[in-house]
Amino acid sequence: MLLLKMKPVLLLSFGIVLVLIQGCSAADGINRNSFPNGFVFGTASSAYQYEGAVKEDGRGPSVWDKFAHSFGKVTDFSNADVADDQYHMYEGDIKLMKDMGMDAYRFSISWPRIFPNGTGQINQAGVDHYNAVINSLLAHGIEPYVTLYHWDLPQALEDRYNGWLDTRIINDFAAYAETCFEKFGDRVKNWMTFNEPHTFTVQGYDVGLQAPGRCSILLHLFCRAGNSATEPYIVGHNALLAHAAAFDIYKRKYKAKQHGRIGVAFDVIWYVPGTNKTEDIEATQRAQDFQLGWFLDPIMFGDYPSSMRTRVGDRLPRFSKVQSTLLKGSLDFVGINHYTTWYAWHNSTSIIGVLLNDSVADSGSITLPWKDGKAIGDRANSIWLYIVPEGFRGLLNYVKNRYGNPLVIVTENGMDDPNSPFISLKDALKDEKRVKYYNDYLTNLLAAIKEDGCNVKGYFAWSLLDNWEWAAGYSSRFGLYFVDYNDHLKRYAKNSAIWFKNFLTAG
Ligand SMILES: *[C@@H]1O[C@H](CO)[C@@H](O)[C@H](O)[C@H]1NC(C)=O
Ligand SMILES: *[C@@H]1O[C@H](CO)[C@@H](O)[C@H](O)[C@H]1NC(C)=O
Ligand SMILES: *[C@@H]1O[C@H](CO)[C@@H](O)[C@H](O)[C@H]1NC(C)=O
Ligand SMILES: *[C@@H]1O[C@H](CO)[C@@H](O)[C@H](O)[C@H]1NC(C)=O
Repeated sequence: MLLLKMKPVLLLSFGIVLVLIQGCSAADGINRNSFPNGFVFGTASSAYQYEGAVKEDGRGPSVWDKFAHSFGKVTDFSNADVADDQYHMYEGDIKLMKDMGMDAYRFSISWPRIFPNGTGQINQAGVDHYNAVINSLLAHGIEPYVTLYHWDLPQALEDRYNGWLDTRIINDFAAYAETCFEKFGDRVKNWMTFNEPHTFTVQGYDVGLQAPGRCSILLHLFCRAGNSATEPYIVGHNALLAHAAAFDIYKRKYKAKQHGRIGVAFDVIWYVPGTNKTEDIEATQRAQDFQLGWFLDPIMFGDYPSSMRTRVGDRLPRFSKVQSTLLKGSLDFVGINHYTTWYAWHNSTSIIGVLLNDSVADSGSITLPWKDGKAIGDRANSIWLYIVPEGFRGLLNYVKNRYGNPLVIVTENGMDDPNSPFISLKDALKDEKRVKYYNDYLTNLLAAIKEDGCNVKGYFAWSLLDNWEWAAGYSSRFGLYFVDYNDHLKRYAKNSAIWFKNFLTAG
């Protein structure tokens, strides 16, 4: 139907022959023109997963360098010392974005490149590097969307005061953020203070599967140090206050002259009740409270969700009046990183209380991607990633209804294939499952915008390239472009990259 409306335009600009060809390939599909004018399409990445060059030009170590080099923390025993080497190869990568017709690129600045020691002396070579990246993007007509913290905390701050566990991190993060506003804000108009604060809090300090690898669950089986019942809440609290401090500095000192906006990229699994029992419907809301609500409620409403206050009690830190006021409204857009949908049930057991004394148990809900032995959708490579396109629409409506239809930018969405040594390059490029994933998720996004009135203005695919997937190392391939790790990191377009090019350049 949308295509029918476009046909006269095509007729006028390209003539009838092209319309017929175009009509064949696009008749049953959506494309850029189905979306509102000005809607932004881009790809997303992060410094540690892409850059490599970890010891070059004065970069200091981050907590992820230490974690990746600790034996047994990364499933394929790899590290990100080289990754995609985007530190050196960014020019070519920007040409790939341009060729696909992308409008924007989301990447992160590595804090230890700017401040190798966490604070103090600025490393000019790090500043020069990001200036070169930003200038090259703009020269190619690609808008930079910059994340300030995508998990690579300077190891110096971990050593000095345990990083996010100490309130000193708030001022140190704010000083780093201000340095970035000052150095890059004349050209960068879209900032995200944090990537997935909930993930780095829970993975780093509750279950211990990511840096800095602290936890106490299962009698300290996986982690030497940590307290899964208290530390996630302290870390989350300090991250929220650090965000508010950076937002406040931008608002007072930079916004009037730089005219940019600041968001946070939240990780959000969509949860649906496992049954229609009231207790399971309530548990589904609690699961969402302990995920998105934990971080977005304080920013929108000035405090944590009441379910968290009730269930966590004194272990959940309190905001002073001043802090609460500073937090409330400290956001220009809600970034949503969304991949999958799971079921949720009420947790009615308390048998394993001592073994699992953590934020997951506190939520009182059990969440799983399957029910009665049947998966909620087709699985990707990651054990947590099941494909449920209509869940995306459900989530966007939830954000609209709970938070007053805020401006939303989808800051990540995508799926992964295994990195199999048995698949030929030719076959690895035929990623039809990914093409279908993007088609179906974008179709649901479009319905959320056009039929439900959700205020979504941008979309970033994760990811431009295959890259280093944290504790899964190189075992997982999320890219639109295949990276040949055995042959000079050469990039090859998968079918999904060609699909995006057709989608973005149609009409
Ligand atoms: C790093 O910072 C600490 C604390 O401010 C300071 O004592 C130390 O001398 C600094 N190291 C370098 C190499 O600048
Ligand atoms: C719950 O009720 C809704 C609406 O009647 C229905 O669509 C859905 O399938 C039910 N879910 C379960 C798990 O029974
Ligand atoms: C269920 O709740 C109990 C009591 O809080 C907790 O000890 C247990 O770990 C929870 N189970 C799961 C799977 O979260
Ligand atoms: C859970 O941990 C907290 C904080 O260390 C402690 O106060 C509480 O007693 C623990 N609960 C259980 C059931 O072990």
